[in-house]
Amino acid sequence: SPVQIRRLVAHAHHLKQVTVPWLQPQGTLAPKAASKLRLPSQSLFNKTIALLFSKRSTRTRVAAETSASLLGGRALFLGREDIQLGVNETPRDTARVIGGMCQGIFARVNDHSEIEELAKYSPVPVLNALSSLWHPTQVLADLLTLHEHANLFVTSSPGKTKRTSQSPNFPELRPLTIAYVGDSANVLHDMLVTYPRLGHQLRVASPEDKKYRAPPEVWRRVEELGCDQRIWWGSDPRQAVTGADVVVTDTWISMGQEAEKEERLKAFSGYQVTEELCREGGANPDWKFLHCLPRKQDEVNDEVFYGPRSLAFPEADNRKWTIMAIFDLLFGKWDLTEKLALS
Ligand code: CP
Ligand code: NVA
Repeated sequence: SPVQIRRLVAHAHHLKQVTVPWLQPQGTLAPKAASKLRLPSQSLFNKTIALLFSKRSTRTRVAAETSASLLGGRALFLGREDIQLGVNETPRDTARVIGGMCQGIFARVNDHSEIEELAKYSPVPVLNALSSLWHPTQVLADLLTLHEHANLFVTSSPGKTKRTSQSPNFPELRPLTIAYVGDSANVLHDMLVTYPRLGHQLRVASPEDKKYRAPPEVWRRVEELGCDQRIWWGSDPRQAVTGADVVVTDTWISMGQEAEKEERLKAFSGYQVTEELCREGGANPDWKFLHCLPRKQDEVNDEVFYGPRSLAFPEADNRKWTIMAIFDLLFGKWDLTEKLALS
């Protein structure tokens, strides 16, 4: 629910504020700040989280391993080549066995049905670390990044962001227009079911061929949640970025689609995010840029990606704090439903 999403992101912000000072080199903190140091939640003390990854990962894996240790527990990386899954053993048996020894499963799978199967038979919560359809932990990092940069989006009273008494240090965000230019893949799909529920407008441009549009099971969920009311979808990238405060893209060739490279590069010709495209399309002159990474030059040029509009690296850093927040609440405190974890 929107309340849970907000709570998770506010919790990530809190954990970041508590934990970052711990990670500074000794002696660099001012005495007053040092006296305020508090140990981050140790909710994973003596617990192990299995990282069941059938695909490559830099950010999600490093975020998971480092945050499990900060929470006092450990992450056990189980790659495709390491375990019996998919070769000698079914997801059903694997889920039961790993769930019998570990206190949580964070799984990166190929087809989304694989994570549904793991969740069905696991005795412990299963969190999606990316599937063919969804990438729920990514949108949480994107949200935290937007909240942290809320000042950049305040138009009526620059420099001031509203703070609520419920989470006094968590900056509020005004309703934004968020444009996505590119492939309808896992990262976009979680944006579709998240941003509209939080009051933001989404404008998407992808090629007309239905393979580049949201699959029926994703769109069904979008409609069930009433998110379609705040989504515009067309094939002209210039139209998509009109009025955009934030422009987002992702690779045109997701993991597993390498054989389609040539066809995809052709289909997405003209979709590269550039200054020119956003100027011509009439984006907010102060628009900011997000990308989940890994990034290729096809979908965004260097000027934007390494330029002052880009929040891509703070966004990558925030994978850690948002994953730490979910690990704390879901695996440490058993305080979230499995349904949320599966999107
Ligand atoms: N954004 C993201 O999920 O990156 P990794 O594939 O490196 O984990
Ligand atoms: N859509 C991309 C996201 C990578 C984080 C992929 O699935 O490869």
